[in-house]
Amino acid sequence: MERNNIDWSNLGFGYIQTELRYVSNYKDGQWDQGGLTKDATVTMNECAGVLQYAQTCFEGLKAYTTADGRIVCFRPDLNAARMIDSCLQLKMPPFPEERFLDAVRQTVKANAHWVPPYGSGASLYIRPYMFGSNPVIGVKPATEYQFRLFVTPVGPYFKGGVKPLTVRISDLDRAAPRGTGHIKAGLNYAMSLYNIVDAHEQGYDENIYVDSATRTYIEETGGANIIFITKDGKLVTPKSDTILPSITRRSIVQVAKDYLGMEVEERPVALSEIDQFAECGLCGTAAVISPVGKIVDHGREIIFPSGMNDMGPVTKKLYDTLRDIQMGKITSPDGWIMEIL
Ligand code: PLP
Ligand code: COI
Repeated sequence: MERNNIDWSNLGFGYIQTELRYVSNYKDGQWDQGGLTKDATVTMNECAGVLQYAQTCFEGLKAYTTADGRIVCFRPDLNAARMIDSCLQLKMPPFPEERFLDAVRQTVKANAHWVPPYGSGASLYIRPYMFGSNPVIGVKPATEYQFRLFVTPVGPYFKGGVKPLTVRISDLDRAAPRGTGHIKAGLNYAMSLYNIVDAHEQGYDENIYVDSATRTYIEETGGANIIFITKDGKLVTPKSDTILPSITRRSIVQVAKDYLGMEVEERPVALSEIDQFAECGLCGTAAVISPVGKIVDHGREIIFPSGMNDMGPVTKKLYDTLRDIQMGKITSPDGWIMEIL
């Protein structure tokens, strides 16, 4: 396989159109056979459900080149399962797990020359999504849907790579109790756009959302879950029904316990206790683990002892171990790696 000739190490997190993507349509109560297409443009009726009432959900996962030259994908079964949960909540027809995995395999294989080389720091981002495609004018679910999956090579989500981030405690809320915070619905991201643009204008990299019922507990950011490290080396991560169950966070918890022998606490984390932690990071497929140097809570500035120059030492250990598992450098727990080529 001949790889494309691009500057992999300097890629940002953006969209680069690749040759082939997967499409399947749902009509009359069933999914069609689906397959790859060169057509990157979606054409639909002006009154399509997604255009009127935002009936859409998505996933995000990555393919990597391993140290020994294979192309692999990290825990895609969990993305398939989470997308089913999102679909059920949004009254959309779930795309079966086996078909989801097949779409990942087919699309990554067909675009294998776009998978960044081992050691470049880049990876192939995979974006499955689904939307209501037939006309809907009364507020109700569509009856026709399209599932698509495209790939695009990406570098770090945050500019500056592993430089510690400055984030603020948000004044706006992301998810209500018994709302949609726990699924990957497009609407959760649409409503965060005003706030992320404002955060950037005020000099912050991201917003940390707190629980909207009491505004006293840390939840997550607009696009990642949060981890903290205590001064005595424990991993603490917020537990809440209104945050997205991050696959990266769940993997980090297992890596911390089983690979690094760390103690882990998954529990509500109060806003008032965050100045007690030694390290902080944002975790997700796009974010991987991005260190947080400073949290600003309306005039209260918390600068973690790990500082503004480097990733904290425990965060770094977690990051290195997770990456080594993803890149096939160390043995992964059963079922974590799906080999594609
Ligand atoms: N939280 C939000 C709101 C996200 O958009 C994401 C990204 O997918 C995550 C957390 C991290 O989830 P994962 O690790 O499964 O990518
Ligand atoms: C991901 O990490 O895959 C996401 O979907 C987050 C998004 C902010 C890019």
